[in-house]
Amino acid sequence: MPKRARHLLLLGLAWLLPQAAVAETGRDAAPLDAERLETLLYQDCGSCHGMTLRGGLGPALPRDRMQALSPEALVHIIRHGIPGSAMPGWKALLSEEEARWIAEHLQTDNRLKTLDD
Ligand code: HEC
Repeated sequence: MPKRARHLLLLGLAWLLPQAAVAETGRDAAPLDAERLETLLYQDCGSCHGMTLRGGLGPALPRDRMQALSPEALVHIIRHGIPGSAMPGWKALLSEEEARWIAEHLQTDNRLKTLDD
């Protein structure tokens, strides 16, 4: 291969590789990590709401009570907290989509169905 052609090829590669890396991370932008979110819910949220969500410093979060709230209200509470209370906002740690995942989990797969269990 002539030297000039090899140069061009290398230049091309040097340009292409970072583009490919950007495209790669773009496609995988914040994939929902269900395991991380579930751990966060039962451990971090659990530190106040109880590891089984039966309540502690914060109120219990049973499935039936969570279904009384709209998904939008839940996402808002999770992302922005409840001003004037100990409930912190999680927007630095949870994207809108991740907060939606947790809200949906609370309303559907929540391990605590009702307080009467
Ligand atoms: C530092 C303690 C603390 C942590 C951590 C915490 N909460 Fe709370 N949470 C509270 C308190 C206290 C309230 C009640 C606030 C009030 O209305 O006075 C509350 C209220 C709520 C409510 C409203 C409950 C209802 O019946 O209206 C939801 C939903 C909720 N928290 C979800 C979460 C989720 C999800 C997480 C984790 C991402 C979390 N909380 C982490 C303390 C906490």
